[in-house]
Amino acid sequence: MSILVTGATGFIGSHFCVEALAQGLDLVLVDNFENSSEKVLDKIELLTGVKPDFHQVDLRDTEKLESLFKDYSFESVVHFAGYKAVGESSADPLMYYRNNIVGSLNLLEMMKRYEVNNLVFSSSATVYSDPVFNPYTEEHRKLPINPYGNTKSMFEDIMQDYAAANPHFSAVPLRYFNPIGAHPSGEMGEDPKGIPNNLMPFITKVAVGQLKELQVFGDDYDTVDGTGVRDYIHVMDLAEGHIRAIAFAENNTGYTPINLGAGKGYSVLEVIKAFEQQNNTSVPYKVVARRAGDLAQYWADATRAKDLLDWETQLTIEDMVKDSWGWQKKYPNGFNDC
Ligand code: NAD
Ligand code: UD1
Repeated sequence: MSILVTGATGFIGSHFCVEALAQGLDLVLVDNFENSSEKVLDKIELLTGVKPDFHQVDLRDTEKLESLFKDYSFESVVHFAGYKAVGESSADPLMYYRNNIVGSLNLLEMMKRYEVNNLVFSSSATVYSDPVFNPYTEEHRKLPINPYGNTKSMFEDIMQDYAAANPHFSAVPLRYFNPIGAHPSGEMGEDPKGIPNNLMPFITKVAVGQLKELQVFGDDYDTVDGTGVRDYIHVMDLAEGHIRAIAFAENNTGYTPINLGAGKGYSVLEVIKAFEQQNNTSVPYKVVARRAGDLAQYWADATRAKDLLDWETQLTIEDMVKDSWGWQKKYPNGFNDC
């Protein structure tokens, strides 16, 4: 029995595939390459010695999706595929609902039809929004504030309703905090198209000289130094969290949302400092106005992951900035250089 991985060549999916194949899991990889490169497949092979069983499928194409379910006998699905840019989701919400909701629903309906009962899903801490209390536990109320966040929260609800109706089903949405870092070999990492929205890829593009300076969005928040505080998690730790979550899903039923975070926050200035010190390089920056929609600070209560998955982060902020830089420095233009 194999595990279907959607969005397998994306940033997080690719790191998961390397870890899971290295641990001997039997994977079937799917992506439509809308936001990733075919070269990722060579990297997965390079890093694991396993030629990935890959199929180019768009989740919105139900015929192709169904042929996959006909050809294989899946035990579980790990569902990374989707769009993830907050600003873009506000500009074109229907495109986000079509891909993240309809695409995911197609997948779930196929799982129902072919009696595949374990689903691990890429959710996000963005479902919580404004903290009523910090750190967030999984019981914190959900109140997403943009279409992207709505898609994550809505699909969680869909999974929950289906798990209530099907006693054999296990639904595990993993609420990621802020994934950064790269494979420690420097052979694989995040490769955003165009100008990055998120902090770490922006920092590495500045450090490598492709962007002039980082804009720090606000230094007047009620935080340790006035800049925003987030819970950064190394993508390799995140990958391992998924491997544990699959085992959990296969041995349990019901709906179990789980935070994947370090349980500790770092400010923007602390991240810049760690990057500069660890990598012996400089990141010019200037403080500008707050970014609309940003929160001051939040981090994860990661107790449930520890209790249910026997998982906690192993890698530090130093590992994260080192590995992000290792990838960027080796391949300044990402997979185009590979
Ligand atoms: P990514 O864009 O690098 O990977 C997503 C992959 O899905 C891409 O390779 C893309 O080509 C593919 N894809 C998109 N729509 C598809 C479709 N209809 N059919 C087949 N493939 C499709 O993103 P990522 O950073 O690896 O994120 C993975 C998941 O985790 C996403 O669902 C994202 O929303 C979620 N997430 C990411 C973060 C983060 O900071 N990166 C944080 C929280 C949650
Ligand atoms: C963003 C998304 C969130 C998504 C998450 C994961 C927004 C408002 N939120 O979260 O929904 O789940 O990415 O991908 O887009 N910062 C700068 N300068 C920059 C970039 C970021 O100062 O150029 C600051 C931000 O203000 C924030 C911190 O760095 O304080 C982290 O930002 P980012 O990496 O974009 O992640 P989030 O805002 O936490």
